Amino acid sequence: MAFPATRLRRLRKTGVLREMVRETELSPKHLVYPMFVELGTDRRTPIDAMPGVDRLSISHAVDEAGEAKALGIPSVILFGIPAEKDEQGSGAYDDEGVVQLTVRAIKEAHPELVVITDVCLCEYTSHGHCGVVRADGVVDNDMSVELLAKTAISHAAAGADIVAPSDMMDGRVGALRAQLDAEGYSETPIIAYSAKFASAFYGPFREAAESTPAFGDRRSYQMDPANSDEAVREALLDVEEGADVVMVKPALPYLDVIRRVKEATLLPVAAYNVSGEYSMLKAAAAAGYLDERTAVLEALTGIRRAGADIVITYHAKDVAHWLQ
Ligand code: PBG
Repeated sequence: MAFPATRLRRLRKTGVLREMVRETELSPKHLVYPMFVELGTDRRTPIDAMPGVDRLSISHAVDEAGEAKALGIPSVILFGIPAEKDEQGSGAYDDEGVVQLTVRAIKEAHPELVVITDVCLCEYTSHGHCGVVRADGVVDNDMSVELLAKTAISHAAAGADIVAPSDMMDGRVGALRAQLDAEGYSETPIIAYSAKFASAFYGPFREAAESTPAFGDRRSYQMDPANSDEAVREALLDVEEGADVVMVKPALPYLDVIRRVKEATLLPVAAYNVSGEYSMLKAAAAAGYLDERTAVLEALTGIRRAGADIVITYHAKDVAHWLQ
């Protein structure tokens, strides 16, 4: 006799039924492709710790955005590396800054592509912190929030479809919402990096963006990896402040958090499959320890199964190729 579970497993071996009853779908339409943009002409600078990812000057960013679009990836998220960094991170809210210029160029070439901008100061401050540092060495929450709101407005003015604050200052989602509304951008949604853990997996990104803190670390504003109640609370706070999508970051070590945040907020949830998660699989694949394609598809399917509607991943273009 065959038990029902056995029968179902056997049936699932036939292609059609497997597709019909599969619980989780991984398709390019859920993916966001992150890009690092810098000034200069016709430049492409490889990032050592992220094989396959380059820092791009604007024309290359426009080309890559077009490639993503052609592969069925609906959206990109931009990170800027300014020519100069200063104490106040002024490159972040400069209307002629690298992200602002890139947004305009991409929207002009590919109007249907959804352009998300990362709103933070750490790539623009000389000390590498996500906000303004006071004389006593402490990051000043309220001063930072003001500059972050200014940054979001300048991104929206340049044509960004969605802004995504990643700094983790208190009250920044509410401040961004209020100021976007006041400046005529009430239709611009906010993806809040709500549960952003103080993670070792951001290492390669910090090389890419040259944003390793010059002193101290980010533990005063990023979350303790041990806490998931706190993550849910942070997400609910951001919802109250007006977040339209909430994000969990990194993704793979926090699949339970993705699930809890999804169930608690009932909002679209984004998960950021961060630089270290990417580089880890790339390195293992390059060493021949595992099969890149199968491993990446499995990892991303797991993130979707945990409850992520949107997955931000450096693997996006590879995945789109594989799934074609
Ligand atoms: C902060 C920010 C970080 C990432 C995205 N936005 C890193 C940090 O806190 O240093 C990391 C993304 C990645 O590792 O891929 N603005």
